[in-house]
Amino acid sequence: MAKEVVLTGLRANAEFHLGNYLGGILPMVQLQKKHAGKYQLNMFIPDLHSFTTPIDHGKLYEQTHKNLKYFVAAGLDIDQPDTFIYRQSYIPAHSELTWILDCFTGFGEMSRMTEFKDKAAQIGEDRISIGLFNYPVLMAADILIYSAKYVPVGEDQRQHVEFARDIAVRINNKFGDIFVLPSDNAEQLKFAGREKPVRIRSLRNPDKKMSKSVEDPAGTVMLSDSPEEAVKKIIEATTDSLAKINSDFERQPGVANLLQILALLTGASQSKVNNEWGGKSSYGELKRAVADAVSSFLKELQDKLAAIDDKKLMQKLEADEEAMRKVADATLLKVQKAVGLRPV
Ligand code: TRP
Repeated sequence: MAKEVVLTGLRANAEFHLGNYLGGILPMVQLQKKHAGKYQLNMFIPDLHSFTTPIDHGKLYEQTHKNLKYFVAAGLDIDQPDTFIYRQSYIPAHSELTWILDCFTGFGEMSRMTEFKDKAAQIGEDRISIGLFNYPVLMAADILIYSAKYVPVGEDQRQHVEFARDIAVRINNKFGDIFVLPSDNAEQLKFAGREKPVRIRSLRNPDKKMSKSVEDPAGTVMLSDSPEEAVKKIIEATTDSLAKINSDFERQPGVANLLQILALLTGASQSKVNNEWGGKSSYGELKRAVADAVSSFLKELQDKLAAIDDKKLMQKLEADEEAMRKVADATLLKVQKAVGLRPV
């Protein structure tokens, strides 16, 4: 029997920072380690999703590939035969299926999507694209076209995965057995192990998430920062005036954030790190330890990045795209037949 499919998207366009690494890249690499051999893993780059909000298009193509390389540098194993990596836009069936699903999706249903409402509120009505509105339908196509069962995603994407299941049920009710249903939310959570999502904070505004923003360059360690630049940012991180180390995100978010970074980078459990540092008074010492960890992490990651065989990676990408195009086309044809676009 064919292996069940676990599918997830690898973010494409934004430049990566330490928060992306610890909260997104690393979990993805661990996911592969955990499931390789037992499941088919589709780890794809949703490049068509990357400009549902405005971006610099001159950078998209290159950034997509650079980001993929960061995943490989972080340990994503491209020799694993059950892992398929591919770019969404290289498999046109995703887009074609999206159009068909669009015609069975309610306007009201999409208007109620939380992420859409949040982003729309942020960017202002006149800049909202239909692409942003339609984002969940393309995501549903990404999932359904490969009959994916499990879709590990962050909290903010859960609703979209549930929509994929809803639309699959709707199509199956109308046209018969077309799609394999993705697992329901409870099963998805069970599969993902319900781990608490990692949220790395800004080093300067520890009440906020670390993010790549022009206003806060000192609060964000980019994966492309030199180890020296990163050390400086850690040493200058905002803490508090309590002079007592304690992992309390409410009262001491800066210190708690440093403890979190230290645990994740050194691979020690959070409780071990908290016990080791808890009650001590020297923030300088803690910063030094974090700075050392960040510095050796960046050095190693950047060395690995430089050692990647680009040609081999491109070959893998293209071979997987060819294989996945066949799978996607077959699903699309089934749908095209069902809706009357192709002879049965
Ligand atoms: N929307 C996802 C994110 O922002 C990326 C994504 C696109 C995705 N299509 C997907 C994730 C399909 C899982 C399955 O992270």
